[in-house]
Amino acid sequence: MSYMYDEIYLAVDNIEKEFTYNHEQLLSMRKLFQHEIEKSNRNELSSLKNDRFYLPPPSGSEKGLVASLDLGGTDVRAFLIELNGNGSFRWIKRANNSLRTKDKDHDYVSEQSSTEKLFDFQAQTLATLTEDYPIVGLPMGYVFSYPVQQDGLDKAVLIRWVKEINTPGVEGEDVVGLLKQALIRNSLAEQIIPRVIMNDTIGTFMASAYIYADTRIGSVIGTGYNSAYAEANWKGTGERQIVNLECGNFDKIVVNRYDECLDAQSSYPGQQKLEKMVSGYYLGELFRLALVDLMTIDKVHTKDHNGVLFEPYSIDTRELSIIIADQSQDLTEIKQWGLVRLEMNLEFNERRAIKRLAETIARRSACLIAMTYAAILNYIDPKGKGKHVIAINGSLYKKMPGYKEWLRESLFGLLDKKWDGLKIEFLQEGPAIGAAVAACMVE
Ligand code: BGC
Repeated sequence: MSYMYDEIYLAVDNIEKEFTYNHEQLLSMRKLFQHEIEKSNRNELSSLKNDRFYLPPPSGSEKGLVASLDLGGTDVRAFLIELNGNGSFRWIKRANNSLRTKDKDHDYVSEQSSTEKLFDFQAQTLATLTEDYPIVGLPMGYVFSYPVQQDGLDKAVLIRWVKEINTPGVEGEDVVGLLKQALIRNSLAEQIIPRVIMNDTIGTFMASAYIYADTRIGSVIGTGYNSAYAEANWKGTGERQIVNLECGNFDKIVVNRYDECLDAQSSYPGQQKLEKMVSGYYLGELFRLALVDLMTIDKVHTKDHNGVLFEPYSIDTRELSIIIADQSQDLTEIKQWGLVRLEMNLEFNERRAIKRLAETIARRSACLIAMTYAAILNYIDPKGKGKHVIAINGSLYKKMPGYKEWLRESLFGLLDKKWDGLKIEFLQEGPAIGAAVAACMVE
């Protein structure tokens, strides 16, 4: 493709406008988000949930050898952890397996897979922990990062898959029960005992609370997006609870035509609207849709590239990180990306346009998530006087260049007061640590 300088900039300007909110729009969404929290906490219809966890925050003095299993959007991971009290811990062993491989060598999360296969795969990942390590009756915390109906410490029924996972037979089932059956099938039932199940945001909250007593929000910004927070009066009962909002489903939100297109073509149209605008699973696809638009606005040179851009989900959010990270004068990395991925020799103005597009989409994600934090903080502490730690986990937050700064700047811009006591902490492996802490508390 070859555009005049002005043409391409005008086009990017227009797309950029569609992906940018002004302060008033963000403030108004912040209010709507807060309103949804309040409604949900009053048991009124809301796009947010208000699921309490069945344990209080830890004291920080928990000790013991425990396991955790984390079923995320892309991997299943198992950990053996020693908690030493005083907020400290030591990794003993870990195992990590992808749920699907690019070459389709295996795929446990498609419609062609089965419940048994998916849960056996998790059990087999856990089995790695027991190799060369004599284990009997090891308590385990299970991190399950999908919307569930939780009816106790170790019972949670999957309401519906999200993050484009489609393994049949799991929705409507108690996933702890399914895991226990898989442990029996794999002769592990005596070694590893699932004690407690939790969402990854709750896990992140628990891990953070083990280290920082002032933890108020646990959040995951990765393949999916969600946050949990400390509620002082859960559903009017006067109880303090850690509450999972499932806030990827927030829907009082201003969307653009790319969001609409992505939603319409997704596995669950109309659901997880916020998540589809902010999380790692979807940002690459939003970028692809916008880029196709940019390339077709004027002179369409479909012959110039290999068709990758016309394949849904062909662009990974990690590629956005590479594009955004390119600080070279000549935008060499982007040039290389164009050659390898699109088989196109992108001109300099095109490379600049692509970089701006990627940044715009990633920055909008950070601003929207900041909006949700501002709403939660404003709800739990309207005067902004307290001490609060927001604990964050997730690959998008960790790896996307500029993301932390955009999020922080946008968050403070949306809080009316000074919030001197506010801290943001990144917690590597937060969910796994939190699950271990919770398992230890139950034990
Ligand atoms: C799930 C949440 C989870 C979040 C982050 C979302 O897709 O619905 O339960 O906490 O992803 O992993």
